Amino acid sequence: MKMFLDSAKTDEIRHALELWDVDGVTTNPRHVKESGKPFRTVIKEIAGLVAGTNKPVSVEIDPHLTDWKKMVAQGLELSQISPNFVIKVSVSEPGFKAIRELSRQGVRVNATVIFTVPQAWQAARAGAAFVSPFIGWKEQYGDSASSLVPEIAAMLKNYGYRAEIIAAGIRNSRQIAEAAIAGAHCLTAAMAVYQDSFCNPYTTMGEDIFRKAWDATPEQ
Ligand code: E4P
Repeated sequence: MKMFLDSAKTDEIRHALELWDVDGVTTNPRHVKESGKPFRTVIKEIAGLVAGTNKPVSVEIDPHLTDWKKMVAQGLELSQISPNFVIKVSVSEPGFKAIRELSRQGVRVNATVIFTVPQAWQAARAGAAFVSPFIGWKEQYGDSASSLVPEIAAMLKNYGYRAEIIAAGIRNSRQIAEAAIAGAHCLTAAMAVYQDSFCNPYTTMGEDIFRKAWDATPEQ
């Protein structure tokens, strides 16, 4: 399962590239806002960090756009900035048309803000390279999202769609495990979520037990 960092903060992306060899980056308007930098400045900086690699960087078009032709025009323009850019388009009727047209013109699209199998199906039919079910957002409002990735995976397999699933909006280790077991191709999460997932209180307890035993044992 490919590991994407969900962030537009260049210090976080640099860290994730250097220490984790992260496979790609996903941004969204909220991440860009939290970077504290203008949109085009920050996406160009991120492009520079992955230049010369095949690591995809998802960049979202203006979420106010509702005219598919304007969505396509902006997607084409953003895709010219870096060969690493994958254009993020939110799913909707004009969104699916924009996904189809961008894909037809050779632009990779990440269909985003997906909460149902039918939304993922339409995105895959339209030629999206990635479909992003928002697992954490669904669970935040009390719904279980455990079945979403396996159901989307089954749908893609049934019809041979080429789209890769990005399990997105991941908030904890259980959601990472469920996505991996369900066969998500990629997972995206914030830096702190990954760092939490590297640890476990039992691991800390075990390390403490072994340190104490080490200290109580003569070396020779
Ligand atoms: C995925 O591509 C999205 O950027 C992301 O997972 C959305 O979640 P967040 O903004 O709550 O992290």
